[in-house]
Amino acid sequence: MRQSKIVRGASSVQQTSGAAAVAAPNTANTTVSQHKTLLCVAVTASQTTEALRQVRQATEAGADSVELRLDFLEDFEASTTLELLLGSCNLPAIVTYRAGWEGGKHEGSEDDRLAVLRDAVRLGAAYVDVELKAARNFFAGLHRTESSNTKIILSSHDYQGTPDNASLDVTIREMFTAGADIAKVATTAQDIGDALRILRLPGRATGPVIALAMGEKGLVSRLLAGKFGGFLTFGRLEGGLGSAPGQPLLSELQGMYHVQSQQSSTKVLGVIGNPVSHSKSPALHNAALQAAGVNSVYVPLLVDDLPAFLRGCPEVDFAGFSVTIPHKVTALACADEVDPVAARIGALNTLVRSLDGRLKGFNTDWSAAIGAIEQGLSEQQGTAGPLSDAQPSSSPPQQESKRIASNDAAGTSGTSPLNRLRVVVLGAGGAGRALAFGAADKGAQVIIANRNLEKAQALAAAIGPDVEVVLPDAIISGKVLGDVLINTTSIGMHPLEDASPGPRSGLEGYKLVFDAVYTPIETLLLKEAAAAGCKTVSGLEMFVGQAAQQYELFNGSQAPVELLRQAVLHSMVTK
Ligand SMILES: *[C@@H]1O[C@H](CO)[C@@H](O)[C@H](O)[C@H]1NC(C)=O
Ligand SMILES: *[C@@H]1O[C@H](CO)[C@@H](O)[C@H](O)[C@H]1NC(C)=O
Ligand SMILES: *[C@@H]1O[C@H](CO)[C@@H](O)[C@H](O)[C@H]1NC(C)=O
Repeated sequence: MRQSKIVRGASSVQQTSGAAAVAAPNTANTTVSQHKTLLCVAVTASQTTEALRQVRQATEAGADSVELRLDFLEDFEASTTLELLLGSCNLPAIVTYRAGWEGGKHEGSEDDRLAVLRDAVRLGAAYVDVELKAARNFFAGLHRTESSNTKIILSSHDYQGTPDNASLDVTIREMFTAGADIAKVATTAQDIGDALRILRLPGRATGPVIALAMGEKGLVSRLLAGKFGGFLTFGRLEGGLGSAPGQPLLSELQGMYHVQSQQSSTKVLGVIGNPVSHSKSPALHNAALQAAGVNSVYVPLLVDDLPAFLRGCPEVDFAGFSVTIPHKVTALACADEVDPVAARIGALNTLVRSLDGRLKGFNTDWSAAIGAIEQGLSEQQGTAGPLSDAQPSSSPPQQESKRIASNDAAGTSGTSPLNRLRVVVLGAGGAGRALAFGAADKGAQVIIANRNLEKAQALAAAIGPDVEVVLPDAIISGKVLGDVLINTTSIGMHPLEDASPGPRSGLEGYKLVFDAVYTPIETLLLKEAAAAGCKTVSGLEMFVGQAAQQYELFNGSQAPVELLRQAVLHSMVTK
């Protein structure tokens, strides 16, 4: 599948001898054998001094290559600038002088532009990028000497969409026929399915291919270029804008997504959502996968149409998904098999591809939160008695998942610390629903407090006959009391959020208060609950727990829970 060699294009131009090559500093020093996807930084400065600085920055950051975008340079002098740039560049450079008619900034004479590109060959640039549409004219005036190692990238850009598979294959074939050493196709992803199609181009081409889908929805085409054998992918520098929409950070390509150690056998995991760019899950899961040395990579998947996405992604490669808003309900219908509790909740957050290709659905939101609450209760009550067998949140996930799988009936497990406790759930949205079902499953007496009573009643009816429904006021005033308070909504205790914090009336009766929110880790509610003497459990435990359980569902072995917790905490300080 992956291209391991630079295959020379069929161009006869390469044999044409001409002026002797000038010994140049940026002589192509890439070897003929190319195993790793190159990580390239586009230099898009408008001033030469700044371009030189960006080249240095890219070199220090460990890029494999830089693309010198001459068309961005406002002070470009044909006679001096290119030689200066190539001379000071220790990395293999791609010289690009993108024409306006191909989406670039060069608007002058086409002859002058092509002359500069030919100059780049003469100066020994490692790569020169020429638009496919200009290939004939470019080659017509080129006298390549035998000693010139410059590789010609023929490129084609579509800023509107992504052509169909057949047209893309034709374009790439044309490029090699026209003399390309490397073919480059950059399209615009209207949907993540476009990115999935683009990823497959290198695998069926006759030579090396750079295939990228631009835009937010094309991100995976950049992140998974290593697995699919792309010749090169672009990353931007910290604080830089990159040269095209959707470019990820070079540091993320190197670290979190380890593009260069991806292999065709690398399994893909990911979080399906919309929006999804701010998800911490990639940071968490990749940290855990890398620590365990698992040959997988976990990516954000910006999905509009879940069933279409699932149809378009290659089964064997995409092994599991976290599912987040707004797809948690739709995901249920996409699963071939659903864990019974997830089915009753009516939403899932995990899809796992089993070996036979079937998709199994789970909901680790409720089990993680309930696990953390159980843990908190047993800490609060000591370890004696029938309450002692609650699983600590760092318990072997093995057991946790068996529990998920075996929770088939409205469990009244006599062993959960939640059994027979009065559990107040504030909110009847997705999280409220999952937690109400989860608590009931553990034998708790559930009270749903929600502004929209009809919604709360529907949820209560779905759970079972003993569920109470109240307005939030009843809870906030302390008229209705419970043992455990679970907050899943923005409904506040105070009429004004910035009212001075202090011990809150109505909280004293609770043994434990849980807040699904984890930014900040100690919310106002948790501060006040602690002041009122309640045990508190933060949403962080739920977030870490759901990721740990997903990790285990994806992998089948125990998750490094503490490492996951550290990764979330770290991502909270760095983002
Ligand atoms: C395009 O190619 C992808 C795989 O590369 C395939 O899943 C899809 O069905 C193809 N689409 C068409 C219309 O042939
Ligand atoms: C529940 O959490 C939200 C978000 O942190 C907060 O705005 C709200 O006040 C909390 N509810 C209570 C009852 O404290
Ligand atoms: C699970 O993790 C182990 C390493 O801890 C790895 O060897 C194995 O391949 C992984 N399994 C899957 C299905 O990813």
